[in-house]
This record gives sequence, structure tokens and C-alpha cells, in this order.
Amino acid sequence: MKTWTWTLVSCAVAIAVASVVASLHRTARADSSSDPQYTSQGNLVRPKDFQGWIFVGSNLGLGYAQGVAANTVRELARPSLGEYHNIYLAPEAYAEYAKTKTFPDKTVLVMDVYRAQTKEPQGIVDQGSFNGLSLGTEVAVKNKNRPDGSKTDWAYYDFTDRSGGGRFPTDAAAQPDGECYACHKAHASDDNVWVQFYPVLRRIKNP
Ligand code: HEC
Repeated sequence: MKTWTWTLVSCAVAIAVASVVASLHRTARADSSSDPQYTSQGNLVRPKDFQGWIFVGSNLGLGYAQGVAANTVRELARPSLGEYHNIYLAPEAYAEYAKTKTFPDKTVLVMDVYRAQTKEPQGIVDQGSFNGLSLGTEVAVKNKNRPDGSKTDWAYYDFTDRSGGGRFPTDAAAQPDGECYACHKAHASDDNVWVQFYPVLRRIKNP
């Protein structure tokens, strides 16, 4: 075969390989996408694979100062619940935040809630506490075009079962703004997100 024919053949092979690689890459991106998923009624479908997302911080039994604005009955009971909150941020949103210090539209944060447990059956530990029974998740989603018709850009969803029975709903309607949004808006340090409590994001915000 002549040299130019070989050149043509190698070019064709290279293009074919490149397009297969590109299509595999597209498939992988689609599968790992953490965009919020909704039901036809506009409820959020409970995110399930968040444990592989970016773990931004954790806290135990935070309680609010007396008289804090936008507090709710539910949140007042918080410290007595003795819960661990582990917060995960979707990887695409993390990458954008790391680059621009802003949370993009479609940002999802998951708060994974555990009962603080002090004793385990073998009696090996007698001090401190660990992430015990799973109580489910609460989820924050930034979406400027919410499918439920609300114009509020951040929506909050509750997928917990605080009884410990492990019955977590598969989808949930957004909570009323006064229950969740108002406190986040008034006190969270960056666009409704409590960056002040998340070391991984604090480092980006104030390097
Ligand atoms: C009185 C204030 C207050 C109210 C009301 C409130 N939150 Fe929060 N929320 C917080 C604080 C403080 C944090 C910081 C981390 C933590 O507590 O685990 C937080 C963190 C979160 C996070 C983690 C992501 C983020 O935004 O930083 C989610 C998800 C969340 N709250 C959901 C809810 C839901 C759902 C409701 C309503 C049912 C609600 N919150 C009501 C204060 C509040």
C-alpha cells in the first residue's frame, strides 16, 4: 500500500477510536449526573447515590441562639435530638464552586442524618458518640425553574423518618418557605448554604 493510503487508513482508525471514546465519556457523564430528578407532580425524587459525592462537613447537635430570626418549632427541638448531620455536595456543583465561588443552578446538597449513639453491643467504647441509626436525609436544591411552579430559587425536602423505623419516602414535595428557606436565607453565610460550618467549602470561600 502506498504511504498516502496508510495515512488515510490511520486517520480513519484514529477518528473511529476518538468517537468511541467520546461516546463512552458522554455515557459516563450522563450516568454520574447528580442533577435533581422530579416526579411528574414536581416532587423531588430522593437522591440515593450521594455517598460518592463530596463530603463537605459534619456536625453534632447544633442548637440556635435564643430568639434567632426565622427559627421554627421543629428546629428548636434539634439539640435534644442529638443527631449527627453529614453534608454532601454534588460533584458538578463542587467543581463549579471551587472555580467560581458560586453555587450553580441545579446544585444539590444532601444532609445525611444519624442518631448519635454512645453504646455499641460489644461494650468496647464508654466515651463519645458515633453515627448510629440512620434517620434518613434532608435535601437542598437550587433551581430557578422549579417544576412545582414556585419562584423561590432554593427548595428544601424532608426524607427523614425520625422514629428510627427506616421508612424513607421515595419522593417528597418541597417544604413551605417559612419552614426552611427563611432561616437559611437569613443566616447561612453563602447563598443559603451554611458554608461557615463546612470546612471543605470554607477553604474555597476564604483561602
Ligand atoms: C432555624 C434555622 C434553620 C431552619 C428553620 C432550617 N434549617 Fe436547614 N440548616 C440549618 C443549619 C444551621 C444548617 C447547617 C448544618 C447542620 O445543621 O447540619 C442547616 C443545613 C441544612 C442542609 C444542608 C445543606 C445546606 O443548606 O447547608 C439541609 C439539606 C437542610 N438544612 C435542610 C433543611 C430543611 C428540609 C428544613 C425545613 C424542614 C430546614 N433545613 C430548616 C438551619 C436551619
